[in-house]
Amino acid sequence: MKKYLVTGGAGFIGSNLAFALEGERKAGVTVLDDFSSGNYKNLVGFTGDIIAGDIRSRDWFDKAGPADAIFHEAAITDTTVTDQRKMMEVNVDGFRNVLDYALKSGVKRVVYASSAAVYGNGHCPMREEQTPAPENIYGFSKAVMDNVAREFAAAHEEMTLVGLRYFNVYGPREYYKGNPASMMFHLYNQMKAGKRPRIFKFGEQLRDFVYVKDIVRGNLNALDAEKSCICNLASGKPGNFNEVIEALNKALGSDLAPEYFENPYSFYQNKTQADLRRTRALLNYRPEWSLEDGIADYVKVLKKDWK
Ligand SMILES: NC(=O)c1ccc[n+]([C@@H]2O[C@H](COP(=O)([O-])OP(=O)(O)OC[C@H]3O[C@@H](n4cnc5c(N)ncnc54)[C@H](O)[C@@H]3O)[C@@H](O)[C@H]2O)c1
Repeated sequence: MKKYLVTGGAGFIGSNLAFALEGERKAGVTVLDDFSSGNYKNLVGFTGDIIAGDIRSRDWFDKAGPADAIFHEAAITDTTVTDQRKMMEVNVDGFRNVLDYALKSGVKRVVYASSAAVYGNGHCPMREEQTPAPENIYGFSKAVMDNVAREFAAAHEEMTLVGLRYFNVYGPREYYKGNPASMMFHLYNQMKAGKRPRIFKFGEQLRDFVYVKDIVRGNLNALDAEKSCICNLASGKPGNFNEVIEALNKALGSDLAPEYFENPYSFYQNKTQADLRRTRALLNYRPEWSLEDGIADYVKVLKKDWK
């Protein structure tokens, strides 16, 4: 039986991944999480082991057994956090610890979560080789993680490191993230309560929204990557905020018009779109979920699991 360690496994993406590894791959899974933004409710039904630990320390090294690969999802994920030192300590120093653990325990493959935030308002479609232009400390920390990974992979050729730059992910088990949860989740809650969905004027901002099932697929494909790499993980087809509301109305059987309000942010990404050529070539990744289908599937789960 294959064994995997999932850091951040009590969080949104980590828990979806933990269940897929257990269910689809019939693997043994250990989750490492400090439960700072994750929630045990995401793991109800999970049959693996759970270590309550902080990636900033090495206290968990002795508890985590050998693994065939590590999926590293643990991070400060709230992009509005401005404490630079804390962001760097968790996201970058924590990543170094995870890599060190892999080295010490003979784990040959590490798949880790990077982010489209490294591109900031950079050129679209965003390509992995363009110069990072992060606009906040979160994006900066992810760009530094990518630097650390490149250097580590070059120094340890026997290991495979796959960095996945997720774009805007939405889907089941993001319920405990609070504000940083996707706009699909927030708008669903408003619309379910019969309120008009509130979005920034005039809803034409474009995002490369990607359903969490495609993110899980990309991670599983990374188990077969032949070499270390950094790849975008997205749908490749941006949708705008008005289209999100249209798809939610369709899935909910409602007809609620958007209520537009002034965008209060001085910095805002008006468009994100991933170039997926490298991901297709190196990870054999093909996104399966369109915005409309992803939202329809998500709303079915929300109706059952959330309200
Ligand atoms: N959701 C998105 O749209 C998105 C986009 C780009 C990148 N990412 C990245 O994907 C990964 C997973 O994000 P998510 O959306 O599931 O967020 P999440 O906040 O739900 O998950 C992060 C998990 O990490 C845990 N964690 C935080 N600090 C920790 C620490 N010091 N030690 C141990 N565990 C710790 C949290 O408790 C949580 O369970 C993150 O690395 C994030 O930066 C997410």
